[in-house]
Amino acid sequence: MKIANLKFNSNLFLAPMAGVTDFAFRSIARNFGAGFSYTEMISAKGLIYSKNSEIYKKMLYTLSNEKPVAVQIFGNEPKIMAKVCQLPEIQKFDCIDINMGCPAPKIVKNCEGSGLLKDLKLAKQVAESCVKASSKPVTVKMRIGYEINSDISLELGKMLEEVGVSAICLHGRTKEQFYSGNVNYEIIAKLKSKLKIPIIGNGDVFDFNTYQKMKKTGVDAIMIGRGALGRPWIFTSIFQNNFKVNKKLVIKNHFNLLQTIYSEKFIINHMRKHLLWYVKEMPNANKLRLILSNINSINQAFELIDKIF
Ligand SMILES: Cc1cc2nc3c(=O)[nH]c(=O)nc-3n(C[C@H](O)[C@H](O)[C@H](O)COP(=O)(O)O)c2cc1C
Repeated sequence: MKIANLKFNSNLFLAPMAGVTDFAFRSIARNFGAGFSYTEMISAKGLIYSKNSEIYKKMLYTLSNEKPVAVQIFGNEPKIMAKVCQLPEIQKFDCIDINMGCPAPKIVKNCEGSGLLKDLKLAKQVAESCVKASSKPVTVKMRIGYEINSDISLELGKMLEEVGVSAICLHGRTKEQFYSGNVNYEIIAKLKSKLKIPIIGNGDVFDFNTYQKMKKTGVDAIMIGRGALGRPWIFTSIFQNNFKVNKKLVIKNHFNLLQTIYSEKFIINHMRKHLLWYVKEMPNANKLRLILSNINSINQAFELIDKIF
């Protein structure tokens, strides 16, 4: 499958996840076979007003093994979105993805993220302005609708295809569902069968069985989010029952990669969260979580990792 001119080594993609999918995590997932990855969502307005701030520079940092890689932006003002698409910092990415799925109240209340699912005309304008402004393919990641039982996916999908969006990722839930209830595979299959552009299916893929369920919808690629937390090797292990991974090496590599641009203080804070995910399937996970949540230096973390894994 291709998105515009982009080719992928695998049709399993790593989902954009705020606070998670920085260059280090993406790079690890790519080495384990993820075919495509995205930055975490980045505010278009924030970028326009403070693109030289260290925070944004770090959010936009990429490594060479990440190609192709997408940047994900969110916003609701077509002109600002277009301006952002033209920034050299954004055009260095292979693809620009627009977030129309984030259900967080502070985003939705500004009619951004899944807030756009309540105003399809505006959603279309946002996408169109990005397509016109960008020389790179523009994609959209969305949910199936806003209200609990709504389904605007086909209506919006057709509008997006018409204005030149190159692919759509559909998380098979509504905004109001957040993460509850089941993924609606029929709606994903319907979108796939009615549109010409590639469709990426997303939601609740954690293992081979759930991968198969999503695959049956006929989608062109499958995106994994939570299933990769603490398991960035899922892109390989999903197809190999007895896949053995050297967790110690992966985790230390995760720390080492972060040291490329982050301070020790930031890394410790950030990796506490990842360490809790890395131990979540271990028999004594609760005890380990307590120990690991108190790390205060990289050396101390490495000593603990040597003991635990
Ligand atoms: C911690 C976390 C952060 C997320 N941040 C983003 C984000 O920045 N942009 C986005 O489009 N979706 C974001 N999502 C949603 C995921 O990309 C994905 O659509 C969702 O988790 C469903 O897929 P899953 O069942 O494989 O996790 C986030 C999800 C999680 C768990």
